[in-house]
Amino acid sequence: MNSHPTLEPQKMDQSDKPDLSVKIGALTLRNPVGVASGTFGYGEEYDELVHIDGLGALYTKAVTLEPRQGNPPPRLVETPMGLINSIGLANPGVERFVEEKLPSLARRRCAVIVNVAGSTEDDYAAVIDYIEAHLGAGRGVDGYEINVSCPNVHRGGMSFGIDPALIERLTRSLRARTMRPLIVKLSPNVTDITEIARAAEAGGADALSCINTVVGMVIDTERIRPAIARGTGGLSGPAIRPIGVAATYKVSRSVSIPVIGLGGITSADDALQYLLAGAQAVQIGTALFSDPGVPLRVLEGIEAWMQRHKVKKVSEIMHMMK
Ligand SMILES: Cc1cc2nc3c(=O)[nH]c(=O)nc-3n(C[C@H](O)[C@H](O)[C@H](O)COP(=O)(O)O)c2cc1C
Repeated sequence: MNSHPTLEPQKMDQSDKPDLSVKIGALTLRNPVGVASGTFGYGEEYDELVHIDGLGALYTKAVTLEPRQGNPPPRLVETPMGLINSIGLANPGVERFVEEKLPSLARRRCAVIVNVAGSTEDDYAAVIDYIEAHLGAGRGVDGYEINVSCPNVHRGGMSFGIDPALIERLTRSLRARTMRPLIVKLSPNVTDITEIARAAEAGGADALSCINTVVGMVIDTERIRPAIARGTGGLSGPAIRPIGVAATYKVSRSVSIPVIGLGGITSADDALQYLLAGAQAVQIGTALFSDPGVPLRVLEGIEAWMQRHKVKKVSEIMHMMK
């Protein structure tokens, strides 16, 4: 008599397998899970740790026209359930990005979305023009994510992301420069995020990422100074998840383009909250620092949830909430 349970994995009928693919403009991501900009470099640094080829997309660290050293240290501080950073968009600049980073990105099996930042509208345009001119017919870049949380030098350092007219104009100008999908990444540090979302859609964005970090501050009371050199910084991690989910819920109901939800995702349940709130896809950022296995676990958890709830396509999840 053999009472051992079978160790054979249960064979799943292919027809039971949910369809995890997601459409962002003309681009199809093979599943909805990506790694967020600035928390994964340009890929190579984390190769040993995270198997991103199984994911839907890699959103690169910001690329600017000129190389940037970033802000002076200290530029990271832990908070309850989160992290405040003031990295200041440290990056090698678009020329070195194309020369040194693009070749390995081109070999990726997941989609590669380049996060673009700038201090003027012309800066953003020049980054995209440079990349487009050097890609030729080759691949390596599947789309752009526009980081509008940058200070605008022409508006006294106010962020691009707070002015709907500016967002619409910037998006329209970048739209004309590339056929690749354009994703505008929304800042939560605004009075009405839906107004900014609609402006990006009007300018021709294919999708919106929702959200970037939330302004935060920690003060060191013994040294009697801010814990990070710049004073305030961007709060990320689980502390901001309810803010991101609420923003996704509001934004997805005010536009007809796809929303990519992020902010504080550490588990499949967190990601599903974003998908139920109206997102088509998600990104994982800060959670990677403590556990690089999170993205693949999130993906498996979404798939298991879909099987349990008999959902055939990821894109149906956004219509399910009662
Ligand atoms: C260290 C660090 C660097 C970041 N750099 C960028 C960046 O270069 N461009 C960008 O759009 N967002 C950047 N972000 C924001 C993240 O992509 C993400 O929007 C935010 O952290 C919320 O997601 P999370 O809570 O999962 O980290 C950065 C975040 C962190 C923590």
